[in-house]
Amino acid sequence: MHVRTCVLHTETSMEALMLYLQPLLLLLPLFLYLVFFIRRKGSGDLKNLPPGSVGWPILGENVELALLGSQRLMTDRMQKYSPAAFTTSLFGEKLVVLCGAAGNKFIFTNENKLVTPWLPLSVRKVLFPDFDQVKHQEPEETFHNFKRDLFKPEALRDYMPAMDRLAREHLRHGWKADSVVQVRQSTKKYTFELACKVFMDVVDPELLEKLLEPFSLLTDGMVSLPLNLPGTDFNRAVGAAKVVRAELVRIAQQRRKELLVMSRGREDLMSKMLLVTNEHGKYMSDSKVANMVVCVLVAALYEVSSAITIVTKSLAELPHIYDQVFKEQMEIAKSKGPDELLTEGDVEKMKYTWNVVLESLRITPPSFGTFRETTTDISFAGFTIPKGWKIMWSPHSSHYNPDYFPEPEKFDPSRFEGTGPAPYTFVSFGGGARMCPGRGYARLVILVFIHNLVTKFRFEKVFPDEKMLFNRLSPAPAHGLPIRIHPHQK
Ligand code: HEM
Repeated sequence: MHVRTCVLHTETSMEALMLYLQPLLLLLPLFLYLVFFIRRKGSGDLKNLPPGSVGWPILGENVELALLGSQRLMTDRMQKYSPAAFTTSLFGEKLVVLCGAAGNKFIFTNENKLVTPWLPLSVRKVLFPDFDQVKHQEPEETFHNFKRDLFKPEALRDYMPAMDRLAREHLRHGWKADSVVQVRQSTKKYTFELACKVFMDVVDPELLEKLLEPFSLLTDGMVSLPLNLPGTDFNRAVGAAKVVRAELVRIAQQRRKELLVMSRGREDLMSKMLLVTNEHGKYMSDSKVANMVVCVLVAALYEVSSAITIVTKSLAELPHIYDQVFKEQMEIAKSKGPDELLTEGDVEKMKYTWNVVLESLRITPPSFGTFRETTTDISFAGFTIPKGWKIMWSPHSSHYNPDYFPEPEKFDPSRFEGTGPAPYTFVSFGGGARMCPGRGYARLVILVFIHNLVTKFRFEKVFPDEKMLFNRLSPAPAHGLPIRIHPHQK
């Protein structure tokens, strides 16, 4: 077993390493020039920046991130440089990471005062075709009016039947008794189909099939080194984004025609956006609507499927936790008829399961963190970060701190009982004004899926020591988390 584990780890590490070395070899001449250039430039007036290393030219510390994983990279840099903040270079950008609860708090409480949202070049190029002119503020302003509508409690309640029905169908068709299921792939399909239903009212299986592959490529390469060379994740993402956008523009055009002759509006996000007018009575363009919907689908597909995979992994690894989740879910299942769908009241009873979800997201946060730009020179923990610099926060800088989470390696859902962790320590959904607006939706999707999963199956991992890879937007099991599923004895 040990030898197999080592081979597995070596193989996956090599894969991760090769992802970054390919472009390096192609760019050797430029590389040498930049070494020289950056060395000379480095001795400027940035004396009071937090300590750190910007790694290799172009590659920055992406190789280290892929090899060590986000948690180890963060812990290592905090120990080596400073527990409060360090300088690094990731995704093609030099930046400062503010660490711990204090760093999270600083960023979350200074939104639009000292810091403003910022997206890495790769995200802007993949998501916004006219990226040169796009500021984070623009899509945000457009989306702002819909945020409240989309995620208000009544809307979430309305989504529930679709969530439960689709989860049941998905498990009935794709998860056969005593077979092996690849959780990552399967939950991507589920969350994608659900999001397309809820946010676009698209249910045609052929169309969904056609969109899923390019959507996956788009999300896989969205936060990566922005090197547009054949074979890179980024290159694949740019190509896939064109395909996705063209298809969504086509759907939007067709939908607009329908809406103009319909007496009553449709309730999905795309339809609502198509009917919005500005102060001059002008509609938003089809391509703008399509783009906004792509952004929501990306969030709904990637983070949520990643979260379900992470929770399923915990349940497969920890039988005593599975047993308690099973008990809670069976009590709910027994209180209902076999075809009766879950209600909001049922989800409210899933308290232990929700704590298991949160503890899983503490141990493996689906998001590596997000970025901001400083709008003025800022002082933090004795360091000075100049105006215009990029900074980031990451859940990895606080989730394993034993001061906030005693025995941080231990899986303990009781940490979330009562008032739960101290403010700014558990930040899988961010915090402050920009805290994830989709968290209520995510909570329902995850709990409804886990309910259906554990009330139907027991399961074990096919590769007990399967490694997590951290070279993409969200952490992913190296083999997609294959599990063997067994139906419960009747
Ligand atoms: C488990 C699932 C999810 C996790 C872990 C997650 C996590 C996050 C995090 C960490 C942020 C960044 C906050 C910041 O920059 O400070 C964020 C922002 C955001 N999320 Fe989520 N998210 C999830 C699901 C969703 C879903 C399902 C949607 C929409 C359908 C969504 C929509 C958004 C949007 C629009 C923002 C930007 C908010 C802003 O900048 O004001 N998220 N999310």
